[in-house]
Amino acid sequence: MRMKKKKFANERLQLLGELLVTDFIGFIEDRDDIYDSIAPLRIEIGCGKGDFIKGKSVKEPDYCYLAIEKILDVCVLAVENYAKSRNMGDLASNGGWQTRDGVVHPLGSESIHFENEELGNVRFAVGDAKDLIRYLPDNSVDSIYINFCDPWSKKGHTKRRLTYIEFLKMYSRVLKPNGRLYFKTDNRPLFDFSLEEIEKSPFTLEYHTFDLHNSEMNSENIETEYERNFSAKGFSINMLIAKNNK
Ligand SMILES: C[S@@+](CC[C@H](N)C(=O)[O-])C[C@H]1O[C@@H](n2cnc3c(N)ncnc32)[C@H](O)[C@@H]1O
Repeated sequence: MRMKKKKFANERLQLLGELLVTDFIGFIEDRDDIYDSIAPLRIEIGCGKGDFIKGKSVKEPDYCYLAIEKILDVCVLAVENYAKSRNMGDLASNGGWQTRDGVVHPLGSESIHFENEELGNVRFAVGDAKDLIRYLPDNSVDSIYINFCDPWSKKGHTKRRLTYIEFLKMYSRVLKPNGRLYFKTDNRPLFDFSLEEIEKSPFTLEYHTFDLHNSEMNSENIETEYERNFSAKGFSINMLIAKNNK
């Protein structure tokens, strides 16, 4: 995702630091401190500006959600987007954060304290998914969502695709038996590649469509930012669900 550098992104994230997971090593053990409950964990890889995780966590609230985004300047938008949707306040005119009681927390202040019910069931992490997920124990995740990841179309770059076999093996390890991987993309070559990789992996293909918006699964679909843009341009959306058969 290309975007202009966000001013003071680090300081902005710091203010909403209670929504961030920074220590992955103890993440699963500390989960009941991090979230209000220890409901099954769902992970989104490459959350962008966070529309999907925001919608999913409202539609299916009986889960803990973790949204991973490798670009800090993008993650700050996802965190602020989610915080606004939780009525935790809004950006202040001086670039800080104004909580709903009207108090302005300027940039450079410590993390603002929020009650657990304000924070809700989503947390965010900045980093490359492959570096973070490897810290998770076996069988600790309920579902993984990948939406419109980079196609890495250049020759020699296929191993970077988030549906390359080595990534699938990593997801299989952390997912529970019968856990699900959900994948959406507008990019047909990437989708075809992913179907082939799943064949070789511990997953079985449970469902796939080359036209999600005209399929029976559309009523359950939560659109992402990219999905809205690409479908508005006339691209059909591919989607698959794969079951962890380890
Ligand atoms: C094309 S955007 C799609 C954003 C969003 N999922 C959507 O559908 O609107 C892909 C996002 O994934 C992030 N990303 C790509 N590879 C990643 C990785 N290995 N770990 C974490 N985030 C990643 C990128 O920084 C970018 O924000």
